[in-house]
Amino acid sequence: MVVGDFAEDLETVVIGSGPGGYVAAIHAAELGQKVTVIEREFIGGVCLNVGCIPSKALIEAAHHYQSALGSNKMGIVTENVKLDFAKAQEWKGSVVDRLTGGVAGLFKKHHIDVLWGEAYLKDDHSLRVIGKDDSAQTYNFEHLIIASGSHPIEIPNFKFEGRVLDSTGALALKEVPKELVVIGGGYIGSELASAYAELGAHVTILEGLDSILANYESDMVKVVQKNMTDKNVDIYTSAMAKKAEQTDSAVKITAEVNGETKEFTADYCIVSVGRKPNTAEMGLEQAGVKTNDRGLIEVDAQGKTSQPHIYAIGDVVAGAALAHKASYEGKVAAEAISGKTSTVDYRAMPAVCYTSVQIATTGLTVKEAKEQGLDVKKAQFPFAANGRAISMDATDGFIRLVFVKDTEALVGAQIVGANAADLITELTLAIESGATLDDVALTIHPHPSLAEGVMDAADVGLGFPTNI
Ligand code: FAD
Ligand code: NAI
Repeated sequence: MVVGDFAEDLETVVIGSGPGGYVAAIHAAELGQKVTVIEREFIGGVCLNVGCIPSKALIEAAHHYQSALGSNKMGIVTENVKLDFAKAQEWKGSVVDRLTGGVAGLFKKHHIDVLWGEAYLKDDHSLRVIGKDDSAQTYNFEHLIIASGSHPIEIPNFKFEGRVLDSTGALALKEVPKELVVIGGGYIGSELASAYAELGAHVTILEGLDSILANYESDMVKVVQKNMTDKNVDIYTSAMAKKAEQTDSAVKITAEVNGETKEFTADYCIVSVGRKPNTAEMGLEQAGVKTNDRGLIEVDAQGKTSQPHIYAIGDVVAGAALAHKASYEGKVAAEAISGKTSTVDYRAMPAVCYTSVQIATTGLTVKEAKEQGLDVKKAQFPFAANGRAISMDATDGFIRLVFVKDTEALVGAQIVGANAADLITELTLAIESGATLDDVALTIHPHPSLAEGVMDAADVGLGFPTNI
């Protein structure tokens, strides 16, 4: 270890190169700042390496496999459809490489320097970067953006080793398990349960609450749940995982389900019970950066921490732990450093769970709107009445709009069904730009498309439905 090194002076430093950090870094460089990124593991963070991107690649491979198996009714001969899982994993790896390589290329293009190592704050204007080889160098910074992300929560008696996997292990399996137990039916648990079920596993979800995907409304979750159970997923709710015992070839999970002790045996057990911010042991207290009792960094609407030249974004601050939220906050922080007055506005924050039938929300639900004192109504349109959905054999689910009774201004939307992730975007823009039901209903939508369902839902809200 180098002791007593001379500090180098840097302008804008970003800790972490996930979707928060890399977007902040690039935008700051675009605005004329000289940017340095410090990264301890991989360019692209959790999202690109072991999160959003690889999970979606695997989910997509699973869909392709399922649709190949199930396309018989469209007249396609489906004998001998086989899954080469090693190849699917290889493909997933190639997707990750392409995107992480892309970010590295963008860093070069914007003259952003990358320092490899772990950042540790010494005080409010300097930090040390400790390399894997224990080398250390001190840097002074003018501005700092903390985008150090989060890691999976480990629960007692479920140490991540062997057949007990966190999400990273679950995405790196070399075989499709015959029996898979998933503890926690939130985002990761539900997505991976859907994917592995489509790849051929029998999956059991053990969820502590009385519903999987408890953040979403129950009529939407019902659609997802039905699709999962049809695909060989058993769902136990009010099920608290107690312990895992491993042998060479299996793992036995004991859980309390509705107060009764039950045992489940599986090839692998995925534990996806939430994530914790990477804020401990970073020297935040020495720098005077305040965190709350959950370890989240306290920030204002520009991402400024208790030290006005230090910003924090993404999974280390409050709110949904989502990649697009991290990126959005990254842009705002970069602009604030450049002296702009930008602030965050979460009025239309989309969230999507990529289960086989996707579930998505943006803006407010009816309940949330009422809690805010808004007098709202809802309008709904089912995919079963949409020509494109019928031709895709994807008629499960619906589109729901939430709008203010008097003004008919959209304040929220929820979608469960095929391509919900893409469809919610139109409604996010509609809410963001203050659109009314009329604006949506009079927007010409291409035919036939799933998006026509959005227009049809607006027609329902206006009281003049055409297609239902
Ligand atoms: P991260 O992506 O976690 O990046 C933080 C980076 O900081 C890491 O590279 C880390 O190595 C580095 N770092 C940490 N501490 C230090 C330090 N002291 N010094 C130097 N470097 C450090 N979100 C979505 O919106 N859509 C999805 O589909 C989705 N799917 C997901 C699937 C899975 C399996 C998982 C686990 C997560 C998923 N997420 C998804 C969540 C998403 O990945 C996170 O919200 C997002 O990555 C947060 O971005 P971030 O920039 O805050 O942090
Ligand atoms: P999560 O918070 O979404 O779900 C965790 C679930 O585990 C909850 O339903 C909780 O009730 C349950 N649980 C907790 N302890 C339990 C126990 N002992 N036994 C049984 N159940 C228990 O967390 P998850 O799935 O780990 O994902 C972390 C975050 O990553 C998400 O909150 C989300 O922000 C992000 N993410 C986003 C995705 C997307 O946008 N599509 C996909 C994957 C992750």
